[in-house]
Amino acid sequence: MVEFTLPANSRVVEGKTYKAPQGAKRVRTFRIYRWNPDDGQNPRMDRFEIDLDDCGPMILDALIKIKNEVDTTLTFRRSCREGICGSCAMNVDGKNNLACLCPIEESSGEVVVRPLPHMHVIKDLVPDTSRLFAQHAMIEPWLKADSPPPPDRERLQSREDRGELDGLWECILCFCCSTSCPSYWWNPDRFLGPAILLQAYRWIADSRDEATGERLDELEDPFRLYRCHTIMACTNACPKGLNPAKAIAEIKKRMILRR
Ligand code: SF4
Ligand code: SF4
Ligand code: FES
Repeated sequence: MVEFTLPANSRVVEGKTYKAPQGAKRVRTFRIYRWNPDDGQNPRMDRFEIDLDDCGPMILDALIKIKNEVDTTLTFRRSCREGICGSCAMNVDGKNNLACLCPIEESSGEVVVRPLPHMHVIKDLVPDTSRLFAQHAMIEPWLKADSPPPPDRERLQSREDRGELDGLWECILCFCCSTSCPSYWWNPDRFLGPAILLQAYRWIADSRDEATGERLDELEDPFRLYRCHTIMACTNACPKGLNPAKAIAEIKKRMILRR
């Protein structure tokens, strides 16, 4: 885990305003959370005026433009720019989203960009996801089977069995869901949260996996699984249109069926 040294009074203050270039016609203001662990200052909200006629269509395009042309110290994660890597997850106008899939035109007025909520911040828009990835490792996200594979081919599935994984394999571990979940906010150290539980169910639902009982044993705990109260904020937040709340309900159903 990263060491954090927020000032004692870590109230977010108003920061600088960076004006649009002269002659800009289609100006939109981006209000962006800034925090630098090395300068001892409070977090602040900076304002950047951007000419949309000279900027790509997505929130991530605006952030890249700001970093390239206005303030090179602006810090955020991104890689694929097409909704596949999950690294550009952040909070835009109060909703968790992938900045690369989020059109600027969908915001009206000032666009407010903050890091994913209820997470430690490493710098600016970069949250510390190490706990979430440690929880992901805990569910052992790989195929477990003691029986030997067929000698001449891989382990095959029927179309129906393969279909059981639809809605699960598409998860890109962006954590928009877990950081929207009130139960995860209050118990991030003990509740696994929707992203990790959806991943857990992805292996429980896999017809080739032979460790279902062991996987369920690991989740049979008042906090790890049962801290989900079906609030559905996770499903509402998923930018890939997945349904982690349903995956959690399926795990609970399996728990009941094996009793
Ligand atoms: S359904 Fe469960 S996991 Fe999803 S937001 Fe609600 S409490 Fe969290
Ligand atoms: S379920 Fe959706 S929101 Fe949650 S980590 Fe996976 S892709 Fe992201
Ligand atoms: S940059 Fe990869 S999901 Fe946005």
